[in-house]
Amino acid sequence: MIIAISSDHAGYDLRKKLMEHLSLEGHSLIEYGAVSSDLAASYVTAGQGVAHDVAAGLADRGVVICGTGIGISIVCNKHKGIRCALCSNEYMARMSRQHNDANVLALGARVVGSGLAVSIVDAFLQETFESGGRHQVRVNEITAQEAAYFKDP
Ligand code: RB5
Repeated sequence: MIIAISSDHAGYDLRKKLMEHLSLEGHSLIEYGAVSSDLAASYVTAGQGVAHDVAAGLADRGVVICGTGIGISIVCNKHKGIRCALCSNEYMARMSRQHNDANVLALGARVVGSGLAVSIVDAFLQETFESGGRHQVRVNEITAQEAAYFKDP
């Protein structure tokens, strides 16, 4: 898969660990975000590149990280076509794919340890959407709602 990944300074170290893991798994990575953990970087700016690339079809999935995961998930969900799920365990990651067809995963680097974060990312990437049934209807409703609220870029 092509995965766009980004973080602010709070998520920098976890981003680098996840990138190492994802590269070893054979994924291609597009990297955005803070240049170090010492230099404050906006989670707003950090989230935008990933949201753009996933919405534009340049990346298959996105992974975004800030301290709590909250700020950067809000940013991504302001983008048309993005369904960003903030997950703190594997169950949430699996459900975000099966039921919500989430295309961006948000993580809080101050909430989950790196080992758990790897498991969450793996679950998110491996799980598939249960299309065709009631979950498809819900996602279609979200898409219709977006059409009413979001202008095309
Ligand atoms: C940065 O200190 C922190 O505010 C940010 O990483 C994030 O947690 C915001 O939602």
